[in-house]
Amino acid sequence: MELKIQTLSFKHCLFFFTFQVVVAFFFFSATFQGKVKPDDIFVTDVPSKPEEPVKIILLWTWPFGTAFPLNQCPSQFDGTGCFFTVNRSLYSEAAAVVLHSRDVCSSKNQLPQMQRPPNQYWIWFTMESPSHNPNTGFMEKLINLTMTYRADSDIFTPYGWLERHDGTENVSIPEKTKLVAWVVSNWNPNSRRVKYYGELKNHLAVDVFGNQRLPLPREKHIETLSKYKFYLAFENSIHEDYITEKLWHNALASWAVPVVLGPTRANYERFLPPDAFIHVDDFPTAKGLADYLHALDKDDNRHKQYFYWRRSLKPVAPARLNSHYCKVCKAIKEAPSYRTVPSITNWFK
Ligand SMILES: *[C@@H]1O[C@H](CO)[C@@H](O)[C@H](O)[C@H]1NC(C)=O
Ligand SMILES: *[C@@H]1O[C@H](CO)[C@@H](O)[C@H](O)[C@H]1NC(C)=O
Ligand SMILES: *[C@@H]1O[C@H](CO)[C@@H](O)[C@H](O)[C@H]1NC(C)=O
Repeated sequence: MELKIQTLSFKHCLFFFTFQVVVAFFFFSATFQGKVKPDDIFVTDVPSKPEEPVKIILLWTWPFGTAFPLNQCPSQFDGTGCFFTVNRSLYSEAAAVVLHSRDVCSSKNQLPQMQRPPNQYWIWFTMESPSHNPNTGFMEKLINLTMTYRADSDIFTPYGWLERHDGTENVSIPEKTKLVAWVVSNWNPNSRRVKYYGELKNHLAVDVFGNQRLPLPREKHIETLSKYKFYLAFENSIHEDYITEKLWHNALASWAVPVVLGPTRANYERFLPPDAFIHVDDFPTAKGLADYLHALDKDDNRHKQYFYWRRSLKPVAPARLNSHYCKVCKAIKEAPSYRTVPSITNWFK
């Protein structure tokens, strides 16, 4: 029985891994087009002060196997005194090792096998929800710091956030000629979002993009979605703080009002003003939501109210995973000196 469970979760891990490689390919290829040369990767201008040893941060794997330039973090991250590398020969000198969950989840053998230096931090990194992070059992008592989209992580790496702006931002809503869009690649008939859509479509016409549906080339994403008044930012699984690029990029960057399905409204309100989105739970039925969207469609003033918050705030969504790594340098300088996470499995669920 136990063996069977292990085999299953191993297969899951492989499945997720393959799926994510595809996703990651789109994620990174748009930005770097695979043109990262070794020269780019190892360029650095450390050390800063000779008396302070440089802190080596080892990326145990490239996330989902995709390379990007290292040691080019923008100054706001305070990357001084750190050197990022993927060269495993530097393991025994590394101050921190970042373990990207999905690249190491197939077995304990994927973790570093060499003698572990006593002051080294192992950092567990994932941007996926617990539903898509199988096999965390062998991480018990091995990890020192967590790095995830969840706000209570040691290193908080959200998919997006709001920043104040100085009032010079263009806050006029792009012209809207269409009503509701949804981009979905992983069509799981048992998921809450697909079931909800099944009801919603009886009352509201939704343009569905993605696998075997309407085509949407990556470079046309924002241009296409900007034509819509509303965007269905439906998460693939429901977990605290799991609010992804579906909201930050697809909806907000396109000036489409997000209709969210995910954690509770209260959870969304920790990150967004209450009038920046519509929550499916605001309505007892999918028909109720459809009626409301039809009403907003006919009432420009009410539609505009969903954009008032933009007069002082703007959404920011980093296009690449690599900016998350930039946070590690400052975090390990400030980290508690000895700390172990007893169980990733118990913490991340
Ligand atoms: C990795 O680091 C070792 C030790 O500093 C060095 O000899 C080797 O050339 C490095 N490998 C690469 C690919 O840079
Ligand atoms: C502001 O945005 C609107 C809608 O996207 C656009 O039509 C307009 O040209 C923009 N104005 C400026 C000054 O960029
Ligand atoms: C990290 O956790 C390991 C395993 O429990 C522990 O041996 C080590 O002292 C911890 N390191 C730090 C810097 O907290």
